[in-house]
Order: sequence, then C-alpha cells, then structure tokens
Amino acid sequence: MAHQVFFLSCLLAVAALQGILAVEYDVANNAATTPGGVIFTNQIGIDYTRQILVAATDFIWNLFQQNVEADRKNVQRVGLFIEILPENFRGAVAIAANNQINVSADYIPTYSGDIKRAFAGIVYHEMTHIWQWNGNGDSNAGGLIEGIADFVRLKADLAPAHWRQPGEGESWNQGYDVTARFLDYCEGLRNGFVAELNKKLRNSYDVNFFVELLGKTVDQLWSEYKAIKTRRPDRKNEQHVSLFIETMNGVAYAVNNEIHVSANYIQGYSGDVNREITGVLYHEITHIWQWDGNGQTPGGLIEGIADFVRLKAGYVPSHWVQPGQGDRWDHGYDVTARFLDYCNSLRNGFVAELNKKMRSGYSANYFVELLGKTVDQLWSDYKAKYKN
Ligand SMILES: *[C@@H]1O[C@H](CO)[C@@H](O)[C@H](O)[C@H]1NC(C)=O
Repeated sequence: MAHQVFFLSCLLAVAALQGILAVEYDVANNAATTPGGVIFTNQIGIDYTRQILVAATDFIWNLFQQNVEADRKNVQRVGLFIEILPENFRGAVAIAANNQINVSADYIPTYSGDIKRAFAGIVYHEMTHIWQWNGNGDSNAGGLIEGIADFVRLKADLAPAHWRQPGEGESWNQGYDVTARFLDYCEGLRNGFVAELNKKLRNSYDVNFFVELLGKTVDQLWSEYKAIKTRRPDRKNEQHVSLFIETMNGVAYAVNNEIHVSANYIQGYSGDVNREITGVLYHEITHIWQWDGNGQTPGGLIEGIADFVRLKAGYVPSHWVQPGQGDRWDHGYDVTARFLDYCNSLRNGFVAELNKKMRSGYSANYFVELLGKTVDQLWSDYKAKYKN
C-alpha cells in the first residue's frame, strides 16, 4: 500500500512536471471562406497542423541542442492561424510574432507540389522564429535569423524545389535559402555549428561569432564556400590555356585550349598594338570558353559572339563595320557582333542566354525563344533601325 502511494505520487509529479514543460498549441482557420482557407480545410487541416507544430518544436530543440528547459526560450503557448494578413504584411507567406504564426490564406493557393509538405516547410521556418535566439533584436542579424529558419527547413528535408542551389547567391547574409545553404556548409565544417551560433545569439549578435566557432571570418568562409560549392557548373571545365606567338599568316586562332597569335601581324601593326592584341586575345579566349552547340552552331555566330565579347570589353578596332552595316546576320565577326549587341539591347543578358542554350546543341529557334522573333525578323528590324 505504501509503495503504491509512493508510485502514484511519482506519477503525479511527472505529470505536473510535464504540465509545466508541455507547450500548448492553438490552431484556427480564421479565413475559412477564402479560397486558401478552403484548401486548408480540405487538404491540410487542423489535426495535421497540430502534428506539424509538435514535430517542428521537437525537431528545432533537438537541432539547437536545447536538451533542457533552461536552454530554451520560455514559451508556453504557440498559436497558428490561417489569416488574411494585415495590409503591411500582404506580401508575406507567413509571419511569426508574439508567439503566433499567421499563415497567409492568400498564398495557400500558390503552394506548389505536395501541398502538405509545402505547408510543413513554412511552419518549420516560422516555428524556428518562435524558438531561435535573435541577438537581442540586433537588426544586423536579420539575414542570419532568416537563414537559420531556412536552415532548419533544409535539415527537416522540407526545402522547396524553387530554392537556389548550394553556392548560389550574392552574400552570406542575404537571408533565407542563400544563407541557409551557406550555414549548411559551415555546419559541415563543424558539426553543431548552427546550434552553437544560436546559443551565442541569446544575448547579442557579433559577426565575430563565425571566427570564434570556425576560426575564420565570415567573409573568408563565404569566399571559400563560393569557390568550393560553385564548382563552375556553368562553365567549360578548362584548367589550362596556352598562348603561342609564332610566325604565321593571318592574325590569330584558337584550337584545343591553345591560342596562336601571329608574330608577323604584331610586327606589321601600325597603331596601338597593345590595345589591338588585347582585343584579339579577348576574341580568341572567348573561343576557349564559349559553347558551340556541340559543333552545330553556325561558324558566323561563333565568331560573332567572340567579337561581341571584344566589343563589350571595349576593344573595338577602327576597321570594324559600324552598327547596321553588313549583309547577313551570320556573316560573322564584327557584322554579327554589332547585330548581337542590338539583340542584347532588346534583352539584357541575351548573349549569355544564347551561349547557355548552345551548350548541347543549336537551333535558329533560340532567337525566337529569347526575343520572340525569328533571327531574320530581328535582322530586318536591326537594318531598319540604322537606315536613315
Ligand atoms: C495573428 O492572428 C491572430 C489571431 O487572429 C491575431 O490576434 C494577431 O494579431 C495576428 N498577428 C499579426 C501580426 O497580424
């Protein structure tokens, strides 16, 4: 009997303890009549949302290595509401504030792929905001905070297909997917890095946290990350280029990662030979790096792109044709370069995209795909523009 009482009081104590620790969740669909609210009701639901909230919390505490209550933020109750967000948050997919996650009903119809998975990904991100430390609100930590939230989403295997790939992005603290991918790289250098970073963010933010944890400045880490992770997937994989100056006719040519320049041409050149040869090298090295449609791209276009690069680098020689001159778009060299410059003015980055398309083949239709007109239409527009 005495044993039983003791056992019972232990159970009660455990229950009481759990009562203190357990987080309560309120879930409501406050936009039930909107299209997004209807999708929520039919395809996501309150029960599933509760499961995700509980799972996300456990996942985050675990990832942040917050095994005891003292390490965690003291939050007893978290709400998740499907809402028409207020005017000033209309662009947001969801917001987290005051221990409440408000998911925009307007955005639910745009979720792509598996709707439940897309919703769960958003909840993991927002739930991270509930539990993460934020450097005492230091606004310099903004990108990092969003990056950590997306890092959690990534680690939960809930990254959506539209995210940028590892190595992409302009700066480490751009936030969201870019910062998340970078943090994943840092995590690879030191297991538990993000957990420790979050711990440090409890009271303040200092960019030196990266040095303290990884022995390098964040800028160093970012450039190493870019170098390692990018792996130049867009570029031709050439490790070695040789330049030969030799006795030969003509000006120069490129073949098999070799550039050959005529010594005779250099000697006979009257004018700024330095500038001329620089221009020639811009042209020839383009042949090293450009795609040629697996040999299918017309030679005139290949030569035109090489001269387009020379033009953009500012090394146009005086003997080139003027814009609008020439009889065929694929005449090559300066004629085609001038025409490509016109096309590029219609769509910034046109030549880059054209080159990209020529990685594995060639079609005259690439002009239509990029500019909405056939190359012949474009050529006559171009000629008309310069006729006066
Ligand atoms: C989120 O929704 C709740 C419930 O409707 C509301 O009380 C709260 O003000 C909303 N928060 C924000 C930031 O809009």
